Order: sequence, then structure tokens, then C-alpha cells
Amino acid sequence: MKSIICENYKIFIGENILRNIQLDSYKKICLLTDKNQKNNIIDYFLKEIKSEFDIIEIESSEINKNISSVLNIWNFLSQNNYNKNSLIINLGGGVICDIGGFCASTFKRGVDFLNIPTTLLSMVDASIGGKNGINFLGFKNQIGTFKNPISVYIDTNFLNTLETNQWLSGYVEIVKSALIYDSDFWTLLSSKFYKNHNINELIFKSLNIKKEIVEKDPFDKGPRKILNFGHTIGHAIESFYLNKKKKITHGKAIAMGIIMELKYSRTRKKNEIIKYIKSIYKEIEEVDINHLIKYLKHDKKNEDNLINFSILKDIGKCDFNNYINIDDL
Ligand code: GLY
Repeated sequence: MKSIICENYKIFIGENILRNIQLDSYKKICLLTDKNQKNNIIDYFLKEIKSEFDIIEIESSEINKNISSVLNIWNFLSQNNYNKNSLIINLGGGVICDIGGFCASTFKRGVDFLNIPTTLLSMVDASIGGKNGINFLGFKNQIGTFKNPISVYIDTNFLNTLETNQWLSGYVEIVKSALIYDSDFWTLLSSKFYKNHNINELIFKSLNIKKEIVEKDPFDKGPRKILNFGHTIGHAIESFYLNKKKKITHGKAIAMGIIMELKYSRTRKKNEIIKYIKSIYKEIEEVDINHLIKYLKHDKKNEDNLINFSILKDIGKCDFNNYINIDDL
């Protein structure tokens, strides 16, 4: 088992690691998980964790990452006398980690929570860094908190349960971390098709990059914003689809976001990056920027009509707080 020590929590990575989780100090434990979680995930969890706990199952699509799901969870916790000595375990993908972390950080002003990500995306992004939240009025991640889990257990056995789309949704965050922070990592990534990599090595490298960036700026006031490269337009694409009640995977939205945001970059390597991304995310299509303006205006980083972009200067170097007027997009 490998571990990464963050400022006030630890991340554990490896196979069969759930059995190491210590839960004895908690009087009540609630497992939050996806209603449609594959049975083998729940069965695996139950086999590894012997403690007693309540289970809350929710629909965990972006559409359900909303205040109604939060109210249901708060109600359950309240009616079942959860308190400061309780623990919430978030077992699932990014939506489960985001909602569970939000409920835990707000209920009784904060109860402990533990993240057990089961998708590649939540392993490399949502489960670490302390951001929790929900969508509001059709806009992504508008309400939220910063609170770290007590620990994160990344059991790589869960990767065997993933479908291609889920792989690709996580892989885009790995690609992003290399592009913004580590040119050697990009050289490694782009040397092979995604399926031919040692995924454990990629997860470990990518998590270390995110940890370093978050520790420079835990509350997202400055340098952490580089993690948003590709996401300003990528999130607008996700919101656009959300409002049309159509589905787009995170992988495709962010892959397109990266390509569209490269328009504002002066790196000479643009074509190399676009070629690699398109070799993996084959059927992605650009969305007309005019359809995205409404959503771009709601980005939390903006000032008035100025949209705040993180811009790739070169591979491994990204700059934050670049404001572009909405009329010039
Ligand atoms: N997912 C971007 C961040 O954690 O800041």
C-alpha cells in the first residue's frame, strides 16, 4: 500500500486496503452510496468492513446533485441521532463524494467523513482537496464548503468494475494534471495509448500533483485555479447538457473544454495536445461558444463580464487569473 500525507489527512492507495480502515472510535456510522452502484462494489465493501452501519442510497447523477438529495440525507442523520461522534463514509464516484462531503461538513457544523472513491475520476479528483458541494438552479457546484475528509482510501480493485466512459472521465483529469504541472509526466502519458499505462503509477503521480497545488492554496484564491484548466468551458458544456436533460460524460466535456481553452494559449505544442486528446476522445464535438455564455457568466471565478481562465503557457506551465471579456470569446 502506498500513501500520500496531506496537511491534515492521509490518502492510502493500493489493492485490498479497505480492511485497514479503523472505525472503532465512532459510535454511529453511515454509508452513503449510489442506488445504482454495482452489487460487487457493495459486496466487496461489506466483506472488507466488519463494523455496523446505516446505509443511505441515493441516485448519484449530476441531476441529483442537488438540495433535495441533501435534505434527504440531513433528515436521515437527524432522525437517527447522528452527532459529532458519528462518521459518514462516502463510497462511490464524484457525486457521492461531493454530496456526502457537503452533508457531513454542514450537519451539526461538521461530522467526520471518509472518502472511498470507486471511479477513476473520483480517485484522482473529487475525493481529495476538500471541495464539497452541489449544483443549484442548473449551474454546477454553486453551493459548497471546504472541508477535508479524515482519510481517503483508494482501493484500486474498484478499477476492475469500470466501463470505458468512466475510465475516460478520470483519465482527462490525469491528462490535465500533466499539462498544467509536469512536462515529464506529459511525455510519459502521451507516449502511449491510455489503456497501455500502469494506471496505479498514473493515479499516484496525478494525486501528488493535486496535493502540491492544493497545499499552496487550499481555498482556491490563487494558484489552485490552475486545476480549472479546461474546466471553465468544460463545466459550461456540462451545464448546457444538464439543462437540456441530455447526458455528456465528464471526460468528453473536459476534453472539449481543454481543446477550446487552448485557443487562448500561446503554446507551440497545441497541435500535439489536440492530436493526443482526439486520439482518445474520438467523437467529441465543439459546442458553439454562444450557447455557453449563459453558463460561463455563472462561473465562480468571474468578475463582472470578465471570465477568468487558467491558460496553458507551455506544457507543464499554467497561469491563472487571465480575464477575457465575454464579448471577446
Ligand atoms: N477540481 C478542482 C479543484 O479541486 O480545485
